[in-house]
Amino acid sequence: MAEFKEIPSGAPASAKVMNWFENRFPTAFDAYRVHLAEYYAPKNFNFWYFFGSLALLVLVIQIVTGIFLVMHYKPDAELAFASVEYIMRDVPWGWLIRYMHSTGASAFFVVVYLHMYRGLIYGSYRKPRELVWIFGCAIFLVLMAEAFMGYLLPWGQMSYWGAQVIVNLFSAIPFIGPDLALMIRGDYVVGDATLNRFFSFHVIAVPLVLLGLVVAHLLALHDVGSNNPDGVEIKAKKDEAGRPLDGIPFHPYYTVHDVMGVGFFLMVFSAIVFFAPEMGGYFLEANNFITADPLKTPLHIAPVWYFTPFYSMLRAITTEMVYVLMVCVALGGIMGAISLKGIGKVVAVGAAALVIGSMAVTDAKFWGVIIMGAAVVILFFLPWLDYSPVRSIRYRPNWHKVVYGVFVVNFMILAYLGIKPPSPVFERISQAGTLLYFGFFLLMPWWSQKGEFKAEPDRVNFKPH
Ligand code: HEM
Repeated sequence: MAEFKEIPSGAPASAKVMNWFENRFPTAFDAYRVHLAEYYAPKNFNFWYFFGSLALLVLVIQIVTGIFLVMHYKPDAELAFASVEYIMRDVPWGWLIRYMHSTGASAFFVVVYLHMYRGLIYGSYRKPRELVWIFGCAIFLVLMAEAFMGYLLPWGQMSYWGAQVIVNLFSAIPFIGPDLALMIRGDYVVGDATLNRFFSFHVIAVPLVLLGLVVAHLLALHDVGSNNPDGVEIKAKKDEAGRPLDGIPFHPYYTVHDVMGVGFFLMVFSAIVFFAPEMGGYFLEANNFITADPLKTPLHIAPVWYFTPFYSMLRAITTEMVYVLMVCVALGGIMGAISLKGIGKVVAVGAAALVIGSMAVTDAKFWGVIIMGAAVVILFFLPWLDYSPVRSIRYRPNWHKVVYGVFVVNFMILAYLGIKPPSPVFERISQAGTLLYFGFFLLMPWWSQKGEFKAEPDRVNFKPH
């Protein structure tokens, strides 16, 4: 047991109370020091650094509103739709709780996409923060599963048919696919069994995993320390007491700073909740105000906006596109054979031949599923794809900024195309967009080290304001 800390008898009552607690629960007080009062964060954070704390805020909003929704929601195919209508019309403040939860889902993705983009432009995924990034990618994947399962619960037409389309994708996997899809649904079509298991996963299993990952994400971050817009390591320059010269204690400086971000976020969030909760059909789709009907397929089925870039990539993989992918894999194999040594050459050619062979004998739909999954999985490998000598975009060649710009615009175009009904022109654009998306990552080891880099400063850039 740790030594009891003594406090002078004339100390204020508040100090005595704190001392009483500290002597009985020192771990909590140590955690406060390590993670807040003595966690030194770079002093040059800009607005991009609001989104981590905002993601935490949205997580809390979702959990709290979710708890209240569960009090009135009925996970039963006969009752689910009506129970949501009951929440909206009869439960006191139910409409507010429900709109906060549905808006919160979209807000979560807005905030997380911006948070990820910050990591991308400032090279926050690079050594020693690879694990922070990997936990982040896992959070993103789990968040997608959470949102997908939550979307089935209102049991509207879009909930039902969206789930039907996505679960059916699993049946494209050779050998195990049909059984896997059956296992996920718990029935031959999406039904009551599916609703029950999605409910169970959505309200408890997945949120627990998500919370665990967020804790791991933050602990890993606090072990290595935050990056910053200059990408300069603040731990390299310390004062005699061992404190980074360019660091300031997280509390009170950034706790207060983050309150401003929270205030701004809540203004936008409330404006949407109170004035445009459906957000023109992007946050809540019109078809989802019609109860699920297994006998009536809607004319156009589209996922919610945050899934659409990936959905576009799925739809882009037609039989023709599989031929294009075969050529890309062949080129990759040839490049591997030229650049690698010894056994590496054999592995590159063998792997390429194997992939091309399996592409020739399996359905394009299966490769669509693979490409959609790979579009997320590739993010995990980012720390090992970037060979740039500097971290932050600030010190990269100007044309790198154009590359990042094109990547974002391309991602947005893919998102737009995923909402639209398919057409031959859109199909071609989404195919080009898919190639661009993967080209950005797979060619990164080559392009990230090209061009004239600016000299990184010794210390971070900071003007007191
Ligand atoms: C529930 C979702 C998430 C929460 C609550 C969360 C929370 C946080 C917080 C509070 C920080 C420190 C403050 C900041 O740097 O903004 C942080 C940093 C970071 N997060 Fe997340 N995060 C989430 C998702 C993600 C995702 C999806 C990724 C990437 C795939 C990611 C990558 C990072 C990185 C690389 C850092 C360090 C940034 C730096 O030091 O420059 N996070 N996160």
